[in-house]
Amino acid sequence: MRFAFIGGIYSNYWALRATLDDISRRGVDGVWFLGDLGAFGPHPDRIPELLIERGMPGIQGNYEESLSSRAEDCHCGYTDPRDSHYAQISYDYTFANTSDAHKDWMGTLPREIRFQAGGKRFLLVHGSPRRINEFLWRSTSPDPFLERLCVESEADVIVCTHTGLHWHRPLPGGRHVVNAGVIGRPANDGRTNVWFAVVEVNGGAVTAEFVPVEYDHRRLAGEMQKERLPGEFIETVLTGWWTTCLEVLPPKERAAGRF
Ligand SMILES: [Fe+2]
Repeated sequence: MRFAFIGGIYSNYWALRATLDDISRRGVDGVWFLGDLGAFGPHPDRIPELLIERGMPGIQGNYEESLSSRAEDCHCGYTDPRDSHYAQISYDYTFANTSDAHKDWMGTLPREIRFQAGGKRFLLVHGSPRRINEFLWRSTSPDPFLERLCVESEADVIVCTHTGLHWHRPLPGGRHVVNAGVIGRPANDGRTNVWFAVVEVNGGAVTAEFVPVEYDHRRLAGEMQKERLPGEFIETVLTGWWTTCLEVLPPKERAAGRF
């Protein structure tokens, strides 16, 4: 059985279209979105529109939690003032351009989804099982910590997003944690593609594949420009390097980027 997981979409409509096309060619057994439908990109209403039209199941991210409760900010979990400054610009734009009907719909989304497949208990969360905005980075998540998360949340396979960077960690006892990455912005590697995850369960073995998605990033950048979104956000889309909301990166992940 194979399942596709779509991490943060960040209003990247063109990447979502390309991702759904790719997934439909794969003939997977299920597809879920993992929250943060809005953020850096333009015209946030297009994302819920498409997801509702497709009837796709998924969970709340911190964005949906904030938008549906009409909160003042995204509760992204940033602590650095520069990260928070750009996060606020992004949130204010998204808030102003998301319809009340979509905000209400976001409030109906679950915070987690559980299912069983191939003898494995799956748990889908946005940040971590214990906090919607916890950042699970590869370099700062040692095995015993991830194992504890699995045990405490009674899951064999945890699938999350929120950080923007994808990774997979097999753990003792057949447990796994998969950060599906995001399709909203590139993975801070100088490439313009974005990523989603396909997890396969076969005879008790779990494998994770990260799929690169090319999309019309110039078109997205043009739309962002028309909406007068910050040039820093557009630069990330065009270059593949993060320019904002990166003070939160741990040293190892920070060193892999340009800024
Ligand atoms: Fe998030």
